[in-house]
Amino acid sequence: MTAAPLETAISTLKELTTDVVEDFGPAHLLARVKRYRRAVASRRLNWPSLRIGELIASVPIIQGGMGVGISLSRLASAVANAGGIGVIAANGIGLLEPDYYKDGRAANLRAFRREIRAAREQTDGIIGVNIMVAVNDFHELLDVAIEEGVDLVFMGAGLPIKNLPVEAMRAAGVKAVPIVSSVRATEMIFRMWQKIYHDVPDAVVFEGPLAGGHLGFTAEQIDDSDYQLETIVPDIVRSVEPFETEFGRSIPVIAGGGVYDGGDINRVLELGAQGVQMGTRFVATEECDADDVFKDAYVQCAPEDIGLIHSPVGMPGRAIRNDFIVDAEEGRRPAFRCAWQCLSSCKANDAKYCISIALNNARKGNLRGGFVFAGANAHRVTEVVPVSDLIGELSVEYRVARRTALAERLEPIVGRARELRERCADLAARVQELGVAYENALNERIDNAWSAGETGIARVREQYEETLSKLRNTQFLLTERLADSWELERRPDLQL
Ligand SMILES: Cc1cc2nc3c(=O)[nH]c(=O)nc-3n(C[C@H](O)[C@H](O)[C@H](O)COP(=O)(O)O)c2cc1C
Repeated sequence: MTAAPLETAISTLKELTTDVVEDFGPAHLLARVKRYRRAVASRRLNWPSLRIGELIASVPIIQGGMGVGISLSRLASAVANAGGIGVIAANGIGLLEPDYYKDGRAANLRAFRREIRAAREQTDGIIGVNIMVAVNDFHELLDVAIEEGVDLVFMGAGLPIKNLPVEAMRAAGVKAVPIVSSVRATEMIFRMWQKIYHDVPDAVVFEGPLAGGHLGFTAEQIDDSDYQLETIVPDIVRSVEPFETEFGRSIPVIAGGGVYDGGDINRVLELGAQGVQMGTRFVATEECDADDVFKDAYVQCAPEDIGLIHSPVGMPGRAIRNDFIVDAEEGRRPAFRCAWQCLSSCKANDAKYCISIALNNARKGNLRGGFVFAGANAHRVTEVVPVSDLIGELSVEYRVARRTALAERLEPIVGRARELRERCADLAARVQELGVAYENALNERIDNAWSAGETGIARVREQYEETLSKLRNTQFLLTERLADSWELERRPDLQL
């Protein structure tokens, strides 16, 4: 892909604009054009920053929280240092501790606090945490996050509505971001917050059906086009608009699930999202906190290896299918001991295996005793790279995609502007001709001492005025639209 089409479109637009402004454009249009010209040509093609309240991430990428030790302080701080938002996942974090089976709750809280502090030591960037609403120590984990003053708390796997310490979060400057899988859930959360707390969340993440890990969709919905990002993101953006108006602040929508390259990021931002959440790509980084065997499973897997599992949590999940999963489905797993019923929805007595133990084994590189959660695009991973390289690569791809998309959109606009310019030139020539004809007709009338027909003169005059008015209208249309077209980057719906 080359940048040439965009350069060509922009230079044609520049020529037409200069020509038109010099010829008949009013000065205020020239000012508008000047304001936007540089923006379109260069700067705005870089990442747009992601703003959540006063937090500003220069890279609009949130590294999705990945539980049971996949995204800890190392990965989160590397992402934050690269300009994105790094996220430590709280669920199952206590499995890193030696005493998890003695006191799972205490182990979780201790490890969680330690990882947040470790991340803070490694970065001045933005650090969030991900806490599943469905875990039995949700409120205690939330308290730790508030005490440690994380920047944001992402809350998924359930509706974060009841008994939330919203005032304490506000006092500590901790942003609240629910993770949802439908417009209905978004509206319910926002309405209930408004009713209970007279407040609303600071942003919302929509996680689509191509994501890795547990999914908030039924198996049938996963392949249904009605549930994909393209369909749901614009609706979620619309659904938060009334709350933005009422609370007088912007509520960014972030979308994820299958976002793999910079082209995907551009596509999601064009849907109205202000950021993306990515998990799979961050697993295949040097800084990801999982064992190399876990990461290598991504590099080695083929599309057909990635499939759904029926998690004991009661939700489908996307993973790289292996013998562990097949054995479990066929009832061949050995018995396990439930440490402390960590998930409220888990039917530990009926479960074929413990999801936390299975994921923890995989994290440590033991794929015989567990399996690897992965997004639908994990098979595209070819190597494990540093986070900074990944962000750099995504940035280049995003720029190329942005340029291509702009060039495609500019092409018909420039074509139409050319047509209008030609029409202006034809009309101007015709006005000139009619002006001469009118003058001649008047002279003839004088020469013939009022004997020539008045109707002929009136007809020529009428035609002259009609054509002049058409010319003015076309000139106005062209100048307005040329000025508008420089705002293309800001107004993707623009047409000429
Ligand atoms: C290995 C793995 C573990 C995950 N664990 C969690 C989790 O504990 N909590 C959560 O909300 N999302 C979890 N996710 C989802 C990610 O946060 C993210 O939303 C998702 O991976 C985005 O889709 P992608 O993988 O296609 O980029 C996990 C994803 C992966 C790949």
